[in-house]
Amino acid sequence: MLVCYLTDEPGKIPAIRAALEPQYPVVPRILGQEPIFAPSGVLMVDADLRQGERVDQIKHVMKDLDAIGERLFVVHRHLHHLVAQAYALGATGVVHSAKQAASKLTQVEAAMRAAESGREAGPAWMTDCGKAFAAMFSAIGNGKTIHLADAETVTSQIIASIDQNGLNGWLDNVRKYHEGTFQHCLLVTGIAVAFALDMNFPPQDVKRLGMAATLHDIGKARIPLAILDKPGRLDPDEEDIMKQHPVIGYDLLKDIPNISAETLDAVKHHHEYLDGSGYPDHLPGGQISDLVRLLTISDIFAALIESRPYRQPLSRQDAYKILCDMDGKLETPLVKAFRDVAMVA
Ligand SMILES: [Fe+2]
Ligand SMILES: [Fe+2]
Repeated sequence: MLVCYLTDEPGKIPAIRAALEPQYPVVPRILGQEPIFAPSGVLMVDADLRQGERVDQIKHVMKDLDAIGERLFVVHRHLHHLVAQAYALGATGVVHSAKQAASKLTQVEAAMRAAESGREAGPAWMTDCGKAFAAMFSAIGNGKTIHLADAETVTSQIIASIDQNGLNGWLDNVRKYHEGTFQHCLLVTGIAVAFALDMNFPPQDVKRLGMAATLHDIGKARIPLAILDKPGRLDPDEEDIMKQHPVIGYDLLKDIPNISAETLDAVKHHHEYLDGSGYPDHLPGGQISDLVRLLTISDIFAALIESRPYRQPLSRQDAYKILCDMDGKLETPLVKAFRDVAMVA
């Protein structure tokens, strides 16, 4: 598998060659100076996304490279706010170093082989949904507001997909083609939508829950990536920072015209528990809305079946068992109703 390595710094080329060759032959190209070949392999972009000129050059290059299925961007850890920018430019994955690129390429190669052997590849709508989340996170990371219409569009796409194909395919594809916070948001929205459809909610209520899920963790766009993507458990100080994301999300969204009060409530309170032990407001059960109760169940389940750097994903059975054991925190009849979604959908 060839790797076309596109960089704005020729000095980086020897290091990337040392990390990847001979397993992955590297064809280096200097951004803005040399034409890109159309590889059957992987495009790796390693350029300074803080510079508008570089971003424009990458945009120009990417226009003609739709056929390349895998587009890895190298974004260094201390520039975490540029991860969303990378996805908005068309990245299918982000790595933080040459060493990490080597292990990522192994995964990419395995996925390509699987696709070539006839198994399902990542569909275009999945990429579109990932891009929509990336654009929203990128806007917030750049100090802009998001457009409610973007959130509505991606929510509608997810509803249509789950309605037509069920949850299983959605979960498989999201876990195969997206990572980190985007993966989490896509999973939560898919699960919440499947939950609403399973309970035969009317379309407008499926959409209400879907919108709340789409936006529920938008506050994480302002949490440092060193915490968000930490390859280990958070220490207490980091945990405190992470726990700010519902309020940050609420503050980011509250002035957007036409955003509903229930969406704002869901963003702020999706980590509240019925026994008052949640955060940020330690709400008692009577003040936690039905929409939030549904979202919280979907959110916890999604988090449990995601892979984290420090643990394997739980099976759906084991994740559901944990929900059942959270007696007093979640609404028991709703957890029971969720069984079909967790195990079957
Ligand atoms: Fe959250
Ligand atoms: Fe979440």
